[in-house]
Amino acid sequence: MTPKEAAGRRAAEYIESGMTVGLGTGSTTEWAIRALGERVAAGLTIKAIPTSEASAALARALDIELTTLAEVSSVDLTIDGADEVDPNLDLIKGLGGALLREKIVASITAHQIIVADPSKLVDQLGTKAPLPVEVVPWSHPLISRRLEERGLTPALRLQAPDTPFVTDNGNYVIDARFPEGIDDAHATEHWLNSLPGVVENGLFLSMTHLVIVGQDDGFCHLIN
Ligand code: A5P
Repeated sequence: MTPKEAAGRRAAEYIESGMTVGLGTGSTTEWAIRALGERVAAGLTIKAIPTSEASAALARALDIELTTLAEVSSVDLTIDGADEVDPNLDLIKGLGGALLREKIVASITAHQIIVADPSKLVDQLGTKAPLPVEVVPWSHPLISRRLEERGLTPALRLQAPDTPFVTDNGNYVIDARFPEGIDDAHATEHWLNSLPGVVENGLFLSMTHLVIVGQDDGFCHLIN
């Protein structure tokens, strides 16, 4: 069993019948969704709200009942992945491109579980991964210049040469590299989201209750 599978499967054990469950996005969360599918087939009854079209499609294939924001305004428990996790359980997310819906679902979630492998643990955010910033397509050259003025190195995410990656929401993503990491994540988040044209950024601060880190031996390390 890989560390990602171990973490995903362990997280799925926290789900109980009757819960509204947030389904994150990414290769680690996929294991949690698959394990949930097995539990649903065995009688677990849940309603799930997916954070991406990919997770929705997987859930449908596994006969997991889906719901929408038209029907729910709170989520009992969400399982999601991360690209970086710092010692305060603050995160960078969005390398899979689903940061906007992930943050919306996280914002209404009572208990957020993050599943990861050990490579995601960092001492300081922004030291390994870039920070994804979802932007309105028309605004991306301007936003990139604003980031450069702050000393960051922006790169428009591409899905093919000369073809920008487009999110499930029809937006672009700029991946911003911080030369020395992010020293004030709250100020950075506030500044980014104050720029007209920015839809959301991948900093998830004070939103996580438990991190499950899968290990090479198939066991999990829990951090809360
Ligand atoms: C999706 O946009 C991201 O936030 C993912 O949650 C993250 O990239 C997960 O990474 P893994 O594929 O390694 O689980």
